[in-house]
Order: sequence, then structure tokens, then C-alpha cells
Amino acid sequence: MTSEFAVEMRDVVKRFITPEGSELDAVDHVTMQIRNGEFFSMLGSSGCGKTTSLRMVAGFEWPTEGEVYIEGRAMGHTPPFQRKVNTVFQSYALFQHLTVYQNVAFGLEMEHIEKDEIRQRVGRALEMVQLSGMDRRKPKQLSGGQQQRVALARALVKTPEVLLLDEPLGALDLKLRKEMQLELKALQQQLGITFIYVTHDQEEALAMSDRIAVMSNGRVQQMGTPVEVYERPVNKFVADFIGESNFLEGTLKLISKDEARVFIHSLNAELVGVPISEGLVNGDEVTVCIRPEKIRIVDEDVLNQNTFRGKVANTVYIGADTHVFVDLQGIKLKVWEQNFISRLNSKPLYAVGQEVWLMLVPENTLVLKKD
Ligand SMILES: Nc1ncnc2c1ncn2[C@@H]1O[C@H](COP(=O)(O)OP(=O)(O)O)[C@@H](O)[C@H]1O
Ligand SMILES: [Mg+2]
Repeated sequence: MTSEFAVEMRDVVKRFITPEGSELDAVDHVTMQIRNGEFFSMLGSSGCGKTTSLRMVAGFEWPTEGEVYIEGRAMGHTPPFQRKVNTVFQSYALFQHLTVYQNVAFGLEMEHIEKDEIRQRVGRALEMVQLSGMDRRKPKQLSGGQQQRVALARALVKTPEVLLLDEPLGALDLKLRKEMQLELKALQQQLGITFIYVTHDQEEALAMSDRIAVMSNGRVQQMGTPVEVYERPVNKFVADFIGESNFLEGTLKLISKDEARVFIHSLNAELVGVPISEGLVNGDEVTVCIRPEKIRIVDEDVLNQNTFRGKVANTVYIGADTHVFVDLQGIKLKVWEQNFISRLNSKPLYAVGQEVWLMLVPENTLVLKKD
């Protein structure tokens, strides 16, 4: 039996009674549809309800309201071992006294699968995670990244259709984490398994996912592809949480059906030719979002519009980019300039106090209704 969706959460609420005696909706009316073979991420800061959502899919918790469906079937109170999902936890949860082989074989032995088949399947799982030859080691004799792979092999050996991963790379250092991100993504594509991946790391979610659910306070703020959530955030929260943004408050003036201007209060000037988001009407108070990499620093005002004079307040060299903070009549905008030439023997890009012009390219601005 196949369903269009591997996993669905329909209007799911999880209410906890806290030790302090109050009620908390850790998951607050969440609806998500995860397609077969999709790499789907839940992204949000600590405490936003990611783990609780995942635990309800796995069957370790039951919804207070709403329902979880796996392959189109309502799960109700189905216990974890009867669900076609498998979980990889952040704290690998390996058995320290067992070898790599025994750790991976454990779940299959519990199911009384024949020894020969176990050997084959464990061998294949270890190969997938590139740990062949390490089967006799104990977890202590492995690096963090290798332990993480054992945890992954232990989940993969059961050939789940859906793999749930709760911050599986959280304990690794940055470099290794980035390598594992690419490996995990490649493995997911190669196996065609549905991944539901939980992370608080926005770069990780952008790099790996087909689609992302951005969460805060138990709710889904936006669901979309990495490009959609980055380029078209639906509100200020998402624009701020994913990547970085400059925000300018203003009033919308509709000139025609598809042309708008925004009067920016702090600059006492208009931004012209901005794209209009749906649902905005003339006179609305709006927030204009502009990503720091999308602002251009120019020497002079050649366009006579959308270009504003300011002073460099500070510059920060971070290797690939230089972050330039520019003071525009009392408000500070951040601008990222790519260091496409070595700065070693050249002068700094900009001197503090230097006068510059900022060009706010209208196609690259996003106008949102003020929260
Ligand atoms: N068993 C529990 N009892 C009471 N509150 C809980 C329980 N589990 C989680 N919470 C609370 O629910 C919220 C969401 O937690 P969690 O899903 O673990 O967030 P995340 O994984 O996004 O960091 C937090 O405020 C947390 O304190
Ligand atoms: Mg968590």
C-alpha cells in the first residue's frame, strides 16, 4: 500500500503539565505533510517543540489532540515498534559494552532473524556508513563522527521507510558536521528513504533539506524549500531566524496594481519600485527586509533613486566576506561584501567614517506587513 505522504501530522497538539503546575502546548496545532523520499527538516530554536513532534511520529508520545498518519494510516496509540519508522537520537545511545557489530545487530537479534541474514545486513549497513572493518571496536574506540555513523547504521539495518533524526550531528565539531551533512544527504538520496530531520542550525537545514518547516513556540511559521524560506520569508520572525536581515519600517504607497513605493520613516525618503506581497493595501504600515549580501555599496549616487548616503561605522573581516556596518541617518545597516581579492596586501575595503552610498536594489527587498 502506498500513500502520497510518508508521514502526516494533522492539527496535532501536545499539552504538557509542567512540574510548576501550568499547562504548556509544546506542539500547538501543527500540520505537516511529508512526502515519500523527501528530506524534510524541522528547524527552530531550543524549546520550540521539534523533539516532541518527532517523538509523536515515532510513537514515544501520543498527541493530546490531532492525529499522526504514517503511510496514510492513523497511528492512534500504535507503539513505536509497530511503526515503520526508526529514530536516530542526538546522544547516539550506543551500548558501550558491545562492539560496533553487536550494536548494529542488536535490533535484528531481538527480532530473531537468522544469523546469516543478520551478518549480511549488518555488513551492508556498515558499508553504507563507511565503517567496514571496524566491526570489532567498542564505541569508546571510535571518534564522535564514527559513533554517530554506528547509530545511523543501527537505524538503517532495519530498513525503515522513514528515518527520524533528532539533531544527529549536534555533538560533532563544525568541520566534521559539514562533512557528515553532505554524506547523510547523499545516503538519503541513494537509499530513497524519507528523512525527517530535526535541527536548530539553519545552515544545516538549508544545506540538506528538500523542504523545511520553520518552527517557533510550538507552531509552524513557514514551510517551504530552502530557497523559498530564505528568499520569501512570510514574516519578520522567519526573515530574522533564517540568515540575517536589515529591517526598515515604513508606509506602503501603491502607485498601480504592480508598482509600489515605501516611505521609510527613519530615512525620510522613498524606496521605489518595490515588489508587492499579497494582501497588502495602500497605507499599510510595513517592514522592509533586505539581506546584507543584497545591498550594494557604491561610490556615488548614479541612479538618483533607492540610493542613500551614509558613513561606514565599522568593518569586520571574517575571511570569505567583510561585514560593513553603515550608519544611515542614525540607523545601522549591515552589508556583506565578498572578498574576491586577497586583502593581505591591499588597503582595508572601507575606512571607518568614510562616506559611502548604499544601493537598495528593489527586486531584492521584501515588503512584509508590520507584525
Ligand atoms: N515531558 C515533558 N513535560 C513537560 N514539559 C515538556 C516535556 N517535554 C518537553 N517539554 C517542554 O516542551 C517544550 C518543547 O520541548 P522540545 O520538543 O524538547 O523542544 P526542542 O526539541 O525544539 O528543543 C519545551 O518548553 C520543554 O520544556
Ligand atoms: Mg530537541
